[in-house]
Amino acid sequence: MISKSMQEAINDQINEELYSSYLYLAMAAHFDAENFSGFAHWMKVQADEERSHAMKFYSYIYDREGKVTFKAIPQPPSKFKSPLDIFKQVLEHEQKITKLINKLYELAIKEKDYPTEMMLHWFISEQVEEEKNDNEIINYLETLGDSPVSLMMLDRRLAERK
Ligand code: FEO
Repeated sequence: MISKSMQEAINDQINEELYSSYLYLAMAAHFDAENFSGFAHWMKVQADEERSHAMKFYSYIYDREGKVTFKAIPQPPSKFKSPLDIFKQVLEHEQKITKLINKLYELAIKEKDYPTEMMLHWFISEQVEEEKNDNEIINYLETLGDSPVSLMMLDRRLAERK
């Protein structure tokens, strides 16, 4: 059975993942309003992934005979700047999530909670992947600039995300 402290920490992480989903959906709404359908698609796929992260934690709590409790999800921003600015914001957000996952891992070590350590390995790798993806897009925007042509090319590329 999962400890109360670990259950509480994972419940908090579920809230963070759901907020991440909400944040990326807010970014998708912004890009749709700006007619960048590829950027919007990328954000919607990311929002779905974040919800699936929340559900991984949800299922894990029940696998360990715990209980999920939901908290309020903060309102995401509705005003955004340039695509480069938005992806820098995404990277910053993911770096915060990485720190939170690392903290969960530290708690698991402290509590000698080996199953939670094992479960978190997936999330640790996932964070490496997410930060890498964000950095690639930031590098593209920094290298090629944000002229209409370069934004249109990137929009097409991001539309292909599965
Ligand atoms: Fe669920 Fe983007 O980390």
